[in-house]
Amino acid sequence: MPDGTAVAPAPEPAVPPDSAAVVFGDRLPLARRYAELLVTSGLERGLIGPREAPRIWERHLLSCAVVEELVPHAARLVDMGSGAGLPGIPLALARPDLRIVLVEPLARRVAWLTEVVEELALDIAVERGRAEDSTVRRRWEGADVVTARAVAPLARLAGWALPLLRRGGELLAVKGASAEEEVARDAAAVRKLGGGDPRVVRCGAAIVDPPGTVVIVERTRQTGRPTRRQKGSA
Ligand SMILES: C[S@@+](CC[C@H](N)C(=O)[O-])C[C@H]1O[C@@H](n2cnc3c(N)ncnc32)[C@H](O)[C@@H]1O
Repeated sequence: MPDGTAVAPAPEPAVPPDSAAVVFGDRLPLARRYAELLVTSGLERGLIGPREAPRIWERHLLSCAVVEELVPHAARLVDMGSGAGLPGIPLALARPDLRIVLVEPLARRVAWLTEVVEELALDIAVERGRAEDSTVRRRWEGADVVTARAVAPLARLAGWALPLLRRGGELLAVKGASAEEEVARDAAAVRKLGGGDPRVVRCGAAIVDPPGTVVIVERTRQTGRPTRRQKGSA
């Protein structure tokens, strides 16, 4: 540099482990580009923290993508509180059959997500709003699956997700070590909101260590007044 100022090099995304090829198949180059965007513009714009770069594959892309084991073919999926696109973008990369919308209230995150979805040419929607907003509900209700990672405690997630789901649809709440404790604490509240008994499952044991932990809540009944669309499909 002419003035002698040292510029820190942009962090390199860690090399993908072999299992990434199994998970992403011929979309691995797109997954690599997403990893690169996360650790460059995503980091610069505050969507991920600096400590995430070296563990971007295991902790983010792969541990999110393995949730696909729990998602039915061609499901309509709402990723609630998507942040940097997690788990929604790894799911879209691993499962092109899914119809996905990323719901996120913060404008600067929505701007980054929109750029990334465009650059990766993914056929997914980005919606600015809170999951409980009436406009979001009207546009995206009737989903087969709602995902959320690191967004809120289980009872609050159920309150936001169940109105977005069709009856029989499922909330997949990606959790860590707190899963069993949250289920014990919030199961009664979840049932009151129209959910079934929450259950904890593990996924991706052959891909990530430790395996992912997901709390599944099925929407079992209608609460509140049905919307026009729900009346029509009843
Ligand atoms: C800790 S971040 C997690 C982001 C991402 N899911 C992940 O695992 O990296 C929580 C995200 O949830 C969003 N959020 C908070 N409340 C929300 C709500 N009511 N509806 C939708 N998103 C919400 C925040 O703006 C933030 O982007």
